[in-house]
Amino acid sequence: MTQSKLLLRSLAGEKLPVPPIWMMRQAGRYLPEYRATRAEAGDFLSLCYNSDLATEVTLQPIRRYGFDAAILFADILLVPEALGADLWFVTGEGPRLSTITTQADMNKIKGPDDIHDHLAPIYQTVRNLSSALPNETTLIGFAGAPWTVATYMIAGRGTPDQGPAHKLRVENPELFDAVIDRLTEATITYLDMQVQAGAEVVKIFDSWAGSLKGDAFTKYALEPTKRIISALKAKHPDLPIIAFPREAGDGYIGFAKATGADCVAIDNSVSAEWVAENVQRDGCVQGNLKSSHMVTGGQALVDETRAIVRALSNGPHIFNLGHGITPDADPENVQLMIDTIRESRD
Ligand code: CP3
Repeated sequence: MTQSKLLLRSLAGEKLPVPPIWMMRQAGRYLPEYRATRAEAGDFLSLCYNSDLATEVTLQPIRRYGFDAAILFADILLVPEALGADLWFVTGEGPRLSTITTQADMNKIKGPDDIHDHLAPIYQTVRNLSSALPNETTLIGFAGAPWTVATYMIAGRGTPDQGPAHKLRVENPELFDAVIDRLTEATITYLDMQVQAGAEVVKIFDSWAGSLKGDAFTKYALEPTKRIISALKAKHPDLPIIAFPREAGDGYIGFAKATGADCVAIDNSVSAEWVAENVQRDGCVQGNLKSSHMVTGGQALVDETRAIVRALSNGPHIFNLGHGITPDADPENVQLMIDTIRESRD
């Protein structure tokens, strides 16, 4: 059967006249309907674990904008919680977790197959979405990459330079490698369950890949992503996978080939021309409009959107932001971005 979903066609390497569109954090606080549902749920984590409400917020941006893809509403930090870490969110500050700094902490972490009871509501959300989405909309599942998730588990919070994780990596490589291995194995079973529940594509978010350099990038960003992708492809040979080694810079070059990813998502620290020249020649790329345009709007948004579409028009491209949309974004600017892309075919 010929594939009709635009996102899947791009992921298969097809160059389309208009790129399919979705946005990281498209279900989020910039939308009044999201804020209302989140208030109904009580707090962010209760929203993630309430399958009906998580389904509702996933669908909100699809109804409002007709994006080509919906991304499961959940969070990368649910995996550490399922592995036994305590997790909570401090309003205005972000996530907090119990830390892993010793072998005794690590001994308390559960096995990769012991996470599914805890994550059952997430699989239910995927099943709900699989039947609720319009025929043309692709359902994306996701997980954090082991390195990025480890940075939060080791520090117990977000950190500007991932200092505590780098410290453990250098001072206690055995323990650090054990954390990365456990996360790699858990991520494989978590994503496999999402695919069995109906996710058509999965994305691996390595938001802090950019702080790994040289051999450390290869060992802790590239290798775990490659292991996850080969395990998933062994079970699901036709599953398209998007990798996002954010701020990898030159590390983006060859990343798809080295890991087996079908598409590399690119942040906005590199130009679309550079991406066309160095990354898109190996296949589909996703990105990379600066998310601040969703706050500021106007002619600069239009010009920059057109420039990205043009620069990446000679190969497979999925339009997205370089990182998540922020709570202060104006929903009308999102519409302006979409109109600009969909009018750009002439
Ligand atoms: O993209 C989507 O719409 C799907 C859902 C999704 C969320 N988080 C929802 C969320 C996805 C894919 C994520 C990924 C995620 N979570 C990452 C990787 C991508 C990235 O942004 O770099 C990271 C590092 C996290 C961890 C996390 N979750 C942080 C640091 C925070 C706090 C910062 C913030 O924006 O408040 C979150 C909370 C979070 N995850 C929110 C949403 C919609 C905001 C929660 C709220 O409603 O208050």
